[in-house]
Amino acid sequence: MAAKKFSELPASEITPEHVYLNRRNFIRAGLVAGSAVATGLTYKFFNPQPAQQVATAEIAKIETPKVVSTVGEPNSFEDITNYNNFYEFSTDKRAVAQKARKLITRPWTVEVGGLVQKPRTFDIDEILKFPQEERIYRFRCVEAWSMVIPWIGFPVKSLLDQVEPLGTAKYVAFETRYDKGAMQSSFSAGIDFPYVEGLRLDEAYHPLAILATGLYGKQMPNQNGAPVRLVVPWKYGFKSIKSIVKITLTDSEPSTTWNLAGPSEYGFYSNVNPQVDHPRWSQATERRIGELSMRDTLMFNGYADEVAHLYDGMDLKKYF
Ligand code: MTE
Repeated sequence: MAAKKFSELPASEITPEHVYLNRRNFIRAGLVAGSAVATGLTYKFFNPQPAQQVATAEIAKIETPKVVSTVGEPNSFEDITNYNNFYEFSTDKRAVAQKARKLITRPWTVEVGGLVQKPRTFDIDEILKFPQEERIYRFRCVEAWSMVIPWIGFPVKSLLDQVEPLGTAKYVAFETRYDKGAMQSSFSAGIDFPYVEGLRLDEAYHPLAILATGLYGKQMPNQNGAPVRLVVPWKYGFKSIKSIVKITLTDSEPSTTWNLAGPSEYGFYSNVNPQVDHPRWSQATERRIGELSMRDTLMFNGYADEVAHLYDGMDLKKYF
């Protein structure tokens, strides 16, 4: 079954940042009410302290993004950049923005190798030269909160095409930079570093899967995974690995950080699925950051028309 096309929206219809800034108090109230529900293993309870605001002026603008998809009103830049999961820096969502300032993102290279014809190390400036598009995606965290984020990026496939994967390549493994000086220890975070993730090759080739280099028309803020991260909108947010330094094509399923930490709770696939609950909480509903009431979680996070065919014939309770 061929993937269906997703809808389009002109850039002019994206809600401007200042509209959200006026809603700041309302959004804060929503954040407190909508705090993350995850407990246990290592996800920590939400800590309702005042948001640490990070100056955005220093983040360079990215020119001429093209909008190719959308799914409703984006969350504010302020929400997206001050409510983060980036365990290398902190398990407190509100502390990540400040602590991630220590991440040095230049020079930066991404090594792409494994089962490929032409292994290659890309400098970040080469990565920024891929034609960048704006992708406004729903983002659903496994902790049952969600946002809508206007990413800037390009299809993962565009990068993989450059290295020419071999016929034996079946999976793609991703690795985050681990800088012991700037980041906290694995012990404090409760998960092993470097953070690793993976996709099946056909998932990575799907046009919705992108390498994101920015958001809201600006280069990626450190706390969101600068300078380049994965975004796979039909999967729980933890699949969208940040600050990538290595991509390896493999013939067997790669290890993934949360699966290693809790195999009965976090599967390799981790497709958003309201019918398969997390062992410790329901996945049927979610709280959109900025809203007070819960909304229904959609199969594949609302991208079923585009991606369901990737899982034809698979028992999604088994391959969760
Ligand atoms: N990538 C790395 N390297 N480290 C992390 O802790 N957290 C994941 C994912 N990618 C994480 C990561 C989780 S749990 C989520 S929900 C998203 O990043 C959060 O992305 P955001 O902070 O941009 O919203």
